[in-house]
Amino acid sequence: MSTEITANKVNYADKTIKLFAIITVFWAVVGFLVGDFIAWQMAYPVLNFDLEWTSFGRLRPLHTSAVIFAFGGNALLTTSLYIVQRTCQARLFGGEAAAKFLFWGYQLVIVLAALGYVLGVTQGKEYAEPEWYVDLWLTVVWVVYLIVYLGTLMRRKEPHIYVANWFFLAFIVTVAVLHIVNNLAVPISAGSPYSVPLFGGMQSAMIQWWYGHNAVGFFLTAGFLGIMYYFVPKRAQRPVYSYRLSILHFWSLVFIYIWAGPHHLHYTALPDWAQTLGMTLSVMLWMPSWGGMINGIMTLSGAWHKLREDPVLQFMIVSLAFYGMSTFEGPLMSIKEVNALSHYTDWTIGHVHSGALGWVAFVSFGALYTLFPALWHKKNVYSYALVRWHLWVSTIGIVLYISSMWVAGIMQGLMWRAYDELGFLEYSFVEVVDKMHIYYVIRAAGGALFLISALVMVYNLYKTVKSEKFSNGESNLVKQAA
Ligand code: HEM
Ligand code: HEM
Repeated sequence: MSTEITANKVNYADKTIKLFAIITVFWAVVGFLVGDFIAWQMAYPVLNFDLEWTSFGRLRPLHTSAVIFAFGGNALLTTSLYIVQRTCQARLFGGEAAAKFLFWGYQLVIVLAALGYVLGVTQGKEYAEPEWYVDLWLTVVWVVYLIVYLGTLMRRKEPHIYVANWFFLAFIVTVAVLHIVNNLAVPISAGSPYSVPLFGGMQSAMIQWWYGHNAVGFFLTAGFLGIMYYFVPKRAQRPVYSYRLSILHFWSLVFIYIWAGPHHLHYTALPDWAQTLGMTLSVMLWMPSWGGMINGIMTLSGAWHKLREDPVLQFMIVSLAFYGMSTFEGPLMSIKEVNALSHYTDWTIGHVHSGALGWVAFVSFGALYTLFPALWHKKNVYSYALVRWHLWVSTIGIVLYISSMWVAGIMQGLMWRAYDELGFLEYSFVEVVDKMHIYYVIRAAGGALFLISALVMVYNLYKTVKSEKFSNGESNLVKQAA
């Protein structure tokens, strides 16, 4: 990265991007900590402490927002603003001032949302819990983000727009549309934090899951694919395996994702044709997803030895493997007959976290281990041994998490639908809950491993920042530790 700076003399606006990188790590730890705490609460409900502020119901959205919007959102802002400047060979539109506005504006969104959750101010829509005043402020911040991004693209010195930017743009534009439509509401009275939504009944559910599913598709997938398309080739020092496949991947993914939301509403009042349409397009989604995974992994063609040597690249390739796994599992779960078993069970939670931990968090860790030395002009990350440690301990954590949830989920689904010979339910609900205890303990232990290994990353990145400056202008990405 620093080679690019010296060679092209572009004065990148990186000061605020450093702040973004630091806050990403901070929110990651907060989000994982709350996640693991609520995981222990599910195993030992006494940890709710009989207080409304610390109850599972209030901490759960705190966790989902902290990991998706605070950790994931800041990871996307950090990387997108970094990448758009490099791939366009241009300084950020609006410079440091615009970047600072985005930084503080976005952190304000997070703090306002978090305060609302703990105090019980929520509109009750999953992943869109904050009330109207936070929604309005987020809209302002997001429009500035779009302007900064487009402005930088328009300043580009390269004729061609690199594919990572296509994914980031799809993420920024689609999230804006989803956010505005799903949050159309009127405050109940002047000065009230609460509002009445514009849509009601089934329409509201349909819009909510059009939003919810595309939050997965465009926030947790398209944006992170932007990260993948830049950092995997950079790290492997190889061009992307097939540029043509990446364009095909892009257009098919964005076209298909937007229709798949109804798979969250199987067997509801949503018209049957809409459920079937959602299911069909979800199954089709498997193809572009795997096209992207193959494109990422095959970028290593001719440089497979780098995978053996570089634990940061290992993080990225393992993330692609998890991406492939969760995008195989998702289409499977969208088939109505399978969903009849999996819906409402911990199988869904297992699916979520194989995507969230294995794909979203791992590809972000790979990017952070690359970005910290690059932004602070260090030769390498402080310790590759600690990166390896992080990789293995967190992978064991994920395996414990998702395998316990698969077993718990399938067991729940089967116990709920078991009848005796007289046609009565064989198990009461509480018997099923009782059977879950051990799996919840295993999940929470897996989460603890994931959290502890993330703390090791924090130490490693801190030591990287504090290490001696590397001034010969050669990028850390060129030399990998053996
Ligand atoms: C230490 C790591 C983590 C642990 C221990 C953890 C734990 C949990 C727990 C216990 C729940 C509630 C499950 C339930 O209601 O039955 C949950 C929900 C959720 N978590 Fe995590 N989590 C972690 C990291 C993450 C990350 C990194 C992400 C996203 C990037 C994430 C996204 C979500 C989402 C989207 C849900 C809601 C799932 C649904 O409603 O189906 N989690 N998590
Ligand atoms: C081809 C891609 C995918 C498809 C077709 C798909 C499909 C599904 C299906 C059918 C469900 C269960 C819906 C239900 O029964 O309520 C689900 C839930 C979920 N998936 Fe996926 N999935 C895909 C990829 C991913 C990835 C990569 C992630 C994370 C990065 C992810 C995150 C989630 C979340 C957060 C939920 C829980 C939503 C909720 O109920 O709160 N999915 N997905």
